[in-house]
This record gives sequence, structure tokens and C-alpha cells, in this order.
Amino acid sequence: MKKNIFADRNKNLKSIFKDETIFYSEFIPEKVNCRDIQVKELTYLLEPINNKKKASNILLYGPPGTGKTMMSKFVLNELINYTKKAKYIIINAIQDNSRIAIYSKIATLFKLPLPRRGLAVDEIIDRIKEELSKCDFIPIIVIDEIDQLDSKQCSNLLYDLTRINIDDKYFCLLLITNHKDFVLKLDPRTKSSLFLNSIEFNKYSPKDLKDILNQRISFGLIPNSISSDLVGFIAGYSSRRGGDARIAIDLLYKSAKESDKCGNLELTKDVILSSSKSIDYIKINEKINYLGKGELKLLHILEDGMLSTDIYSKSEMPVRTVRRYLSNLEKVNLIRFENINSNTGRTRKLFLNFDKSII
Ligand SMILES: Nc1ncnc2c1ncn2[C@@H]1O[C@H](COP(=O)(O)OP(=O)(O)O)[C@@H](O)[C@H]1O
Ligand SMILES: [Mg+2]
Repeated sequence: MKKNIFADRNKNLKSIFKDETIFYSEFIPEKVNCRDIQVKELTYLLEPINNKKKASNILLYGPPGTGKTMMSKFVLNELINYTKKAKYIIINAIQDNSRIAIYSKIATLFKLPLPRRGLAVDEIIDRIKEELSKCDFIPIIVIDEIDQLDSKQCSNLLYDLTRINIDDKYFCLLLITNHKDFVLKLDPRTKSSLFLNSIEFNKYSPKDLKDILNQRISFGLIPNSISSDLVGFIAGYSSRRGGDARIAIDLLYKSAKESDKCGNLELTKDVILSSSKSIDYIKINEKINYLGKGELKLLHILEDGMLSTDIYSKSEMPVRTVRRYLSNLEKVNLIRFENINSNTGRTRKLFLNFDKSII
């Protein structure tokens, strides 16, 4: 008799996973490792809400994968489990990329039904104000990836939100960005009415990354499925790619999935190496999608170990333009520079954070 193709896979098949959900991107750990200072600071800044005092607006900034989004959710969940005086909504400015889209999301916090025929921004604001005056909580508006908004729209939005004060009600703003300098582009009146308290998220050290990986391993994988050397290898790999915990967890998860597919209960270096190649490929493509034509052109010219002076001469573009492009490439962590002393004075040496064959 013909055997069903699923029959073999289901028969007493052991899995390397104890709980695969631990690796899903929306998973929030019960305890946040390596972020004690940031958790403490954010808790301190939100505390006034519990005492009916006004909380200030907050900016979280730092490179990708440093726990900004996850840690905000963690602290805000603690807050709303502790008190009924606050509610929050997380808006991602990549998905909701305009003032009106953001106001429409804020309206959902009040369960405010908006008619399908579009309302003008001012009409939505009026309705939101009315709801705010009636509600019995402080709305915390988290705008993640805020730098993705056009700076004029962003200025107007933040200015309006900070000006809304009805009795003792107000919007508490929690802004999250990979690029702190987005604040510089805001207009001066918005900057001064925001009164931002900033919390920095520095990139994770190899030791931090090991701790974060070990936490996922102990809850997500069966015992003895990965050696501490290989955990160190993954930590080193993600450390060189910006100290990014997302890259570390993705590489661990992808490798475990590959092993699981073949029925292996232990991770090998080979499987991790091959998964790392496809992760590099995905991450670099994500970054390249953000780049402009000029940066891309420059990227093709760059070689590991080049001196900054060679870059200027080889690129055939104005030095100021090249500087701007290099700074953008540095921001997304595709390249880094080290200062060296040469006989002509101080120069910078370039390092590529990716394998050039990918592009
Ligand atoms: N300190 C940490 N402990 C455990 N997991 C972490 C920690 N920091 C980041 N992560 C995990 O790494 C991934 C990226 O974190 P995220 O908060 O999305 O980074 P960011 O918003 O700074 O880009 C998420 O899966 C998150 O759960
Ligand atoms: Mg984030």
C-alpha cells in the first residue's frame, strides 16, 4: 500500500525545539536581560502616571536590534497590568506613514469608529479631543520608526499632539528611532514643545548577545542541542553585524529549523555557517532597499581596507556628496571606519561589514 508522505514525519519524530514560539518575532521574554538601566529609566519616566502627575515625552534611540521595541512593550505591559490609569498603542511609522494614518490609529485606542468616507485631519483631531476629555486613562502613544515620517508632517503631528491638553488629560509620547538626528530636522517650535527625555540603547556586546541567546536556548530548544562554542560563534557573528540581537536570534532560529528539517537534534557549525550566508543576504537586501541610487553606486566602488582619500578620488563624485553617502552607509551599518595615522596626517580606513559577492 502506498504510504502517505506525512506518515513518516509524524511518527515519534523528535524535535530540536522544545517551544518554537520562543523564536517568533512577537515573543516578549519574561525577563529582559542586559537592559537594566533602560528598563529602570523608562519605568522612572512613566511613573508619574501612577501618581496623577504629568509624564514627560520620551525618545528611545539606538541601532537596530538593540531591544527598543521589545523593551517598550515589556515595560508598557507591566504598567497596564499594574494600573488602569494608562493605555497604550504602538504605531509603526513604516506602515502608517502619514499624519492622517497615525491619527486614525490613535482613534482606535478610544474605540472611536471613523466613517469610511475619509475625514479631514482636523475633524479626526476634534473627535479624538472629545474622547480624550471623556476617558479615564492617560493614552501613551508609541510611534516606532518615527524617522520614517516626512519631517514636515512629523513636526506638525508632534506639535499638535503635545498641545492637546484637556483638564488633566494629555498624550504621553514615546518615540522610537534608529537615527537620533531625526530630532534635528524637526522645526524649532516642535522641538521646544516636545521636552524629550532620551534613553540610549547601545549595541550589544558579544557577552550580552550570548546571554540573550542562552535565554532563548533554554526555553526554546531541547537540552544539549548546541555547544557553548557555537553560541559564542553566533554571538560573534551578530556582534560584527552591529551588535544586533535580531540577527543573533534569527541565525539561531534558522539553523535550528534547518537541523529540525533533517531530524538532527544537535546544531553543527556547518548548518550555522550556511544559515549565516542566507541571513547576510536577506539583511543586506533589506538595507539596500533603503538606499538611494548614489549610495548604491558608491557601494560598488568600495573595497575592504580602502583609505578615505582613495574613495574620494575613485568615486568621481564631489567630496561633499561622497561624505554624505558614506555617512548614510555607516548609519545602516554596511560599512565602518577606523582612524589611522599616516604621514600625511589622520586618515580613515574603510571596512565592509558584508561580503561583497552578495551585491
Ligand atoms: N535584552 C534582550 N533580551 C532578550 N531579547 C532581546 C533583547 N533585546 C532584543 N531582543 C530580541 O531581539 C529582537 C530585536 O529586538 P527589537 O526590540 O525589535 O530591536 P529594535 O526595536 O531596537 O530594532 C527581538 O526579537 C527581541 O525580542
Ligand atoms: Mg524596533
